[in-house]
Amino acid sequence: MTTQRQSIHGQWSSRWMYILAATGAAVGLGNIWKFPYLTGEHGGSAFVLVYLLCVALLGIPMMMAEVMLGRRGRQNPVNTMRTLAKEANTSRHWQLIGLAGTLAGVLILSYYSVIGGWTLAYAFRSGTGAFNGATAEQASSLFSQFVGEPLGVLGWHTLFMVMTMVVVARGVRYGLERAVKYLMPALFILLVVLVGYATTTGYFLEGLAFMFAPDFSKLTGTSMLAAMGQAFFSLSLGMGTIMIYGSYVPQEISIARTSIVIALADTLIAILAGIAIFPIVFANGLEPKAAGPGLIFETLPVAFAQMPGGHLIGVLFFVLLMVAAWTSSISLIEPAVTVLVENFGMTRLKASWLSGLTTWALGFGTIFSFNVWADYRLFQKNFFELLDFLTANIMLPLGGLFLAIFAGWLMAKEASQPEFAMRTTLGFQIWHLLIRYIAPVAMLMIFFVAVGLL
Ligand code: PHE
Repeated sequence: MTTQRQSIHGQWSSRWMYILAATGAAVGLGNIWKFPYLTGEHGGSAFVLVYLLCVALLGIPMMMAEVMLGRRGRQNPVNTMRTLAKEANTSRHWQLIGLAGTLAGVLILSYYSVIGGWTLAYAFRSGTGAFNGATAEQASSLFSQFVGEPLGVLGWHTLFMVMTMVVVARGVRYGLERAVKYLMPALFILLVVLVGYATTTGYFLEGLAFMFAPDFSKLTGTSMLAAMGQAFFSLSLGMGTIMIYGSYVPQEISIARTSIVIALADTLIAILAGIAIFPIVFANGLEPKAAGPGLIFETLPVAFAQMPGGHLIGVLFFVLLMVAAWTSSISLIEPAVTVLVENFGMTRLKASWLSGLTTWALGFGTIFSFNVWADYRLFQKNFFELLDFLTANIMLPLGGLFLAIFAGWLMAKEASQPEFAMRTTLGFQIWHLLIRYIAPVAMLMIFFVAVGLL
């Protein structure tokens, strides 16, 4: 029997609003720099094929599981896990998985917001022509200068955090929904304009070839695992954001169908980002190799500096990145805010400012990693790198592992099956099989690779 709880935070006003919000959560920096880069590295379309397979066999079933848990619990991840564990007659300690996810959101946002601040700064600086005529070395030294001065970065980080918390404080209907309603179409239009521009560079086909020419010889076990990890990260799984967004999904909406749409939209945007970026990189004789912040903040400004009308394209590009980071940031803090509201009786406004302020202060660690703390290292990693490693490589895969075990092994079929309300039992059986066997093994493998054991 389905118990019909209500979330005290309200629910999405329509299927479309939920799809926009969840796609906004999923589409982030991972789509715009990491996916294109990984694709180029690991054999072009061969990698894309493996990636699609990972989305289908791991990403979609995991997303369905998280939305299902959230919608059945209708509370923040901690209380949802406690309620559902009780329902399944198992230990209440499962609430710790919800807590770990909530914490991961705060930790990720503390550095995500600093990078979000960089995108604001770069949109602004591109507009004022700061990169005009810059050579590769100059762009590189402009970047080191910029991140080397903590006070300036702090200002941009503060602005980005305030932008995020203003939306979150206004709640599901008036904050989250209104923001994604405008931001997601804007993101898509910006991306299409940039792809359109890429077709005029004269290197469009080279860009396409770089991304899509299949090279199966490059496809190793490692690259397949990279595809798996990327699919998981790109869909924001394993840490409670999809679960909390799921808790706002109206009962009549199909979890399977919306999960497929969201996963496809996330993948499409990642592919379009590659199609937009690589022709610009090639047209300017640059190397697509530089990974990480390098490609975006050092290579691309050079490309923009060299081409006609480049500073306008630069502004568009960095605004696009900023929007992608913004809608993800909103989702990253939502679990923490709902924990403060539900478990500590705060108003949403107070909860937002308190969690925002804490995250903002944690962000200092990331800002200082590029200047005053640059030499403080643990396992050769600075604070920012440690935070990234701890969240993306340890907390998310383990969170995903436990959620898969819970949904597949501990929760009764009588509880999960009615939530999906699929027309045929075959669909449910396939999901159940994937979540019981494929997902836990995949999550363990991602974890072992990440910590260097495989
Ligand atoms: N999915 C986001 C991206 O692709 C990253 C992210 C992970 C955001 C987990 C929130 C939670 O950039």
